[in-house]
Amino acid sequence: MMEQLLSRASAGTLQDPGPDEAALQRILAAAVRAPDHGKLRPWKFVVIRGEGRRRMSELFVESLLLRNPDAVAAQIEKERAKPLRAPVTVMVVAKVMEGHKIPVIEQVISAGAAAMNILNAAHFLGFGAKWVTGENCYDAHFRARAGLDPADQVVGFIHLGSLPPGASGQPETPRPDASYYTVEYY
Ligand SMILES: Cc1cc2nc3c(=O)[nH]c(=O)nc-3n(C[C@H](O)[C@H](O)[C@H](O)COP(=O)(O)O)c2cc1C
Repeated sequence: MMEQLLSRASAGTLQDPGPDEAALQRILAAAVRAPDHGKLRPWKFVVIRGEGRRRMSELFVESLLLRNPDAVAAQIEKERAKPLRAPVTVMVVAKVMEGHKIPVIEQVISAGAAAMNILNAAHFLGFGAKWVTGENCYDAHFRARAGLDPADQVVGFIHLGSLPPGASGQPETPRPDASYYTVEYY
């Protein structure tokens, strides 16, 4: 288990098949194992696959054109392709309760922990995964059309799929020595 955790890496190219329903349910069961101060369950997981992937692609283009009506064809095609990069994507949303005694940052961190659990669970099940964000996360039009409430925060899009044969992920990034980021408190 520890070896699996230490071998996680973001995927470059993702292809079919994505996690099927049973695998996805396992992955999401891991997501809701995220720690959560106050049992607020401040999460929403929007599964984007099948026909939903095409509709999300259209929403990406629509949102881009509202942000930037002068977008050129190459920008539009790049945006259109984003939700099509993986067979399954989970948009991880922090369902933030403003004015609650649990600070907003703790609610968002909990959703971030859920996203991290999705990455690890996908890896443990043999899938590739990558966490991406982008301007849509902060775009009011996109967020409303994606069915989110104004206080919701998009923590990211987790792309899920199979790695090409022989690929273990992106070319392995050298990992830093944890001691570089660690101090002893005296
Ligand atoms: C909150 C968050 C947002 C990210 N957004 C993007 C993104 O939009 N595009 C991207 O290429 N990588 C993004 N990344 C980085 C990748 O998910 C990944 O961590 C990076 O490519 C390094 O690979 P590694 O996970 O193997 O270390 C994001 C990471 C986090 C935590």
